[in-house]
Amino acid sequence: MKTIKFPNNFEFGTATASYQIEGAAREDGKGEDIWQRFSHIPGNITDGTNGDTACDFYHTYKEDIRLAKELGLEVFRFSVNWARIYPDGIGRINKAGIEFYRNVLIELKENGIKACMTIYHWDLPQKLQDKGGWSNREIVGWFTEYAKTLFKEYGDLVDYWITLNEPWCVSTLGYWTGEHAPGYHDYSMALQAVHNLLLSHGSAVKEFRKLGLKSEIGITLNMNLAYPLDKDDPRDVEAAKRIQLQQNNLFGDPVWKGGYPEELFAYLKEQDVVIPEILDGDMELISQPLDFFGLNTYYAEFVKADEEQWPFHAKAVKSGKPRTDADWEVCPDEAYELLCWIRDTYKPAKLIITENGAAFNDWIDSEGKVQDTDRIEYLKQYLEAVSRAVEDGVPVMGYYVWCFTDNFEWAWGLSRRFGIIYVDYDSQKRITKESAKWLSKVIKEKEYNMA
Ligand code: FCB
Repeated sequence: MKTIKFPNNFEFGTATASYQIEGAAREDGKGEDIWQRFSHIPGNITDGTNGDTACDFYHTYKEDIRLAKELGLEVFRFSVNWARIYPDGIGRINKAGIEFYRNVLIELKENGIKACMTIYHWDLPQKLQDKGGWSNREIVGWFTEYAKTLFKEYGDLVDYWITLNEPWCVSTLGYWTGEHAPGYHDYSMALQAVHNLLLSHGSAVKEFRKLGLKSEIGITLNMNLAYPLDKDDPRDVEAAKRIQLQQNNLFGDPVWKGGYPEELFAYLKEQDVVIPEILDGDMELISQPLDFFGLNTYYAEFVKADEEQWPFHAKAVKSGKPRTDADWEVCPDEAYELLCWIRDTYKPAKLIITENGAAFNDWIDSEGKVQDTDRIEYLKQYLEAVSRAVEDGVPVMGYYVWCFTDNFEWAWGLSRRFGIIYVDYDSQKRITKESAKWLSKVIKEKEYNMA
């Protein structure tokens, strides 16, 4: 039987995000955000739900943090809803919003849990969307003001700051495929959003450094390696390369190496995509030194060339591996390869897996338990890959499971369950799943057996 071990200073936690858990969508002076708007438009959310109440974390945070403490979580990752702090996105500050996150942070501190705060996890104030949102370069100033307010208010209470969660999703799903808020379909606009997102990230980091805070700061990128479905077909090989460039290098290269992937931009120009204007000083601003690389990863991409798919002429397909209920293939070996790829490509001094986890169709059995053995198996396989990467010199120092409680899973709604804690949305009752109990033991012992 193989024992998987982690170093003593390796930190285990869970991740979550404001719109997905808080509810209280119209309480205490909060402004409207784009997910609130988007989720109320019929057809946008598969199961017709929205985040108006979600897990009601706005009211239940004390009990939830008590649960986190019981499980022995070392880090609690969560995000701030910008519209709770600035109802209009800029200008007037909402004191109740400031108080809420301060209370959450104090609760975490009193329970001995480190706080990882994501500044932006997708819930843009609607008032800023009305001015173009991420496609308007002015957002760099708006975001910097917002981030500065958080640094000033919470500087002594946060351990890890994440500027942005998954700018690929914000830009591609929000401005190109339209699956996510604000629901546009314009790739040139998406690319402009990429540049503005990355400038905003860099500008916030620059301000953070001026304050001389003790905490660490990074960005969370979602990355996957892309493999050609048929490795002997040169068209699939080229298509996979393009998918990887647009998902990984388009974000990793500017942040960690100070330049956009030229090969990708040349290809996109041929496709008549408008490349964002890059001003003097932009790349220096984007590539501020960071304390850690935040990685979210759930699956790998298997790619086929497809002439119909503008602008990349490539399509992600299934390779035949087992899938979770999110229809994502379980790819731990590919995750190991991804970690090594990041080590070799970007050489970060520290890497935190800020999200990994699985959706399964959980239910409460006759004994009142949620026996999510599939999730335990998924976590075992991915953590084995992580420990292998650590042995091979990838500086992974932390791993956060997505997610703490079941929550509002964006375009899928409330019915897609990723949590290690089950939520009965009618009663708001929490039930600790078997996976949470398993994880709790792993955290305590810093090891587990594979079989
Ligand atoms: C990631 C998001 C997170 C969650 C998981 C399943 O892309 O960052 O909010 O929805 O996927």
